[in-house]
Amino acid sequence: MGLIIKNGNIITCQNEFTADILIEGEKIVAIGKDLDTRGHEVVDARGKYVFPGGVDEHLHYNSFNSLGYETSHAALVGGTTTVGDFVVQPEGVSLTDSIRNYKRDYVDGKASPDYVLHGIVMDPCEETIADIVNLPSVGVAACKLFMAYKGMPYYVTDEWLFKALVESKKAGVTIMVHAENADVIDILTKKLVAEGKTEPKYFSESRPVLTEAEATSRAIYMAKMADAPLFVVHVTNQLAAEAIRDAYNEGYSIYGETCTHYLMLNDENLAKPNFEGAKYVCNPPLRPQSDVDFMWEAINKGWLKAVSSDHCAIIGGFEKGKKKGLNDFSKIPPGSPGVQERLYMMWTYGVEEGKISRQKFVEVCCTNPAKICGIYPQKGEIAVGSDADIVVFDPNYRGTISIKDSLSGSDYCTYEGFEQKGIAEKVFLRGKLVAENGKFVGEPGQGKQVMAKAYAYCYENFKEKKEERLATNE
Ligand code: URP
Ligand code: ZN
Ligand code: ZN
Repeated sequence: MGLIIKNGNIITCQNEFTADILIEGEKIVAIGKDLDTRGHEVVDARGKYVFPGGVDEHLHYNSFNSLGYETSHAALVGGTTTVGDFVVQPEGVSLTDSIRNYKRDYVDGKASPDYVLHGIVMDPCEETIADIVNLPSVGVAACKLFMAYKGMPYYVTDEWLFKALVESKKAGVTIMVHAENADVIDILTKKLVAEGKTEPKYFSESRPVLTEAEATSRAIYMAKMADAPLFVVHVTNQLAAEAIRDAYNEGYSIYGETCTHYLMLNDENLAKPNFEGAKYVCNPPLRPQSDVDFMWEAINKGWLKAVSSDHCAIIGGFEKGKKKGLNDFSKIPPGSPGVQERLYMMWTYGVEEGKISRQKFVEVCCTNPAKICGIYPQKGEIAVGSDADIVVFDPNYRGTISIKDSLSGSDYCTYEGFEQKGIAEKVFLRGKLVAENGKFVGEPGQGKQVMAKAYAYCYENFKEKKEERLATNE
């Protein structure tokens, strides 16, 4: 017996049409009008939207002081069926062993959604760089390097970023970069703190737009010199987004994403009284409203390709986590929860407000993230052969985001008080009902690793684009 989702308004990144979806086992096996329901369980989706389960390509469990997979059911309740998590590389352990160990010790038997893993270069040395080409053998097709976080084990110098870019191309691994100028931030932070400017409102002053714009441009130049694709994560502002757009338009394989909070919140949140601004401390910082407006334009015009949550629910939440920086903003652990609210914010404030189309919503929240991670069309698509990861979405629901509905494990909600229009009435993960109207109905540990394939989205037409560039320059 299969399952038929009947008469839903199916949204893909290119189309919208009313049809039935037949699921057998874990896969979509047919899509069409008036499919024969005999012998199948039927879910009536008339008047509802049906779209692929969300893919959140960038979030953090068990790193940056964050909670782990015991809270990952929050993703499913918010309509996200696959999460992309970054694996810390302990000193002296190879990238590939880090992935194997992490999966065994922190993920297996604990993950509720499906997950795709990305590497992080944290022990930069020739052996680590040489191991980048082996990442696809453990189902990993992307690896992040941090130009920020001076003095922390995450930070790498340009030397290692450049070497990683050169190596990555040999095996089709996508290098993701956190682009902020670590040295300048370090100097500005120390100066502000020395001047007694220690409240959260000074956080954005310690990491101005130019620190991100400069590092983004530098990373782009390095990718050009290395002749490799590049993906810039959590882009926050016009200058950085323009650098990515312009490089792409010149024919380089340079791409980027932004995050929900850079579309929903601005730097005024950091000045909230009673230390509440600390809730919004994340890297790079929230920006002025003009940049927020530009981020909407950037995703709408396709200059940035995806919207991730960069979910990072700090252990201890606000009271016991964020308050570690009560007397010094530089000690506030960065990051905020958001995986549960990402689709709701993008629908309510993007689609419902006419900022993006329903197709664009699916493109930036589901399909493109799956492509970027190397897990498309298994994930991020409603098509025959794809995993039956499906959201039946009731657009008529009206509610307000509140910590009381949050499953993030934190004691605060980044989007507290924001409106929620629409709800993931039913969420299917590989054909199984796992969330219903804000409640988790699946089993912790049901999530499986999605094995990413190398030469993903950022490598598309890489050679052709280079030939075209060279021909134009002749
Ligand atoms: O503040 C943030 N974004 N925390 C997570 C780590 C990172 O840099 O992505
Ligand atoms: Zn980052
Ligand atoms: Zn992040």
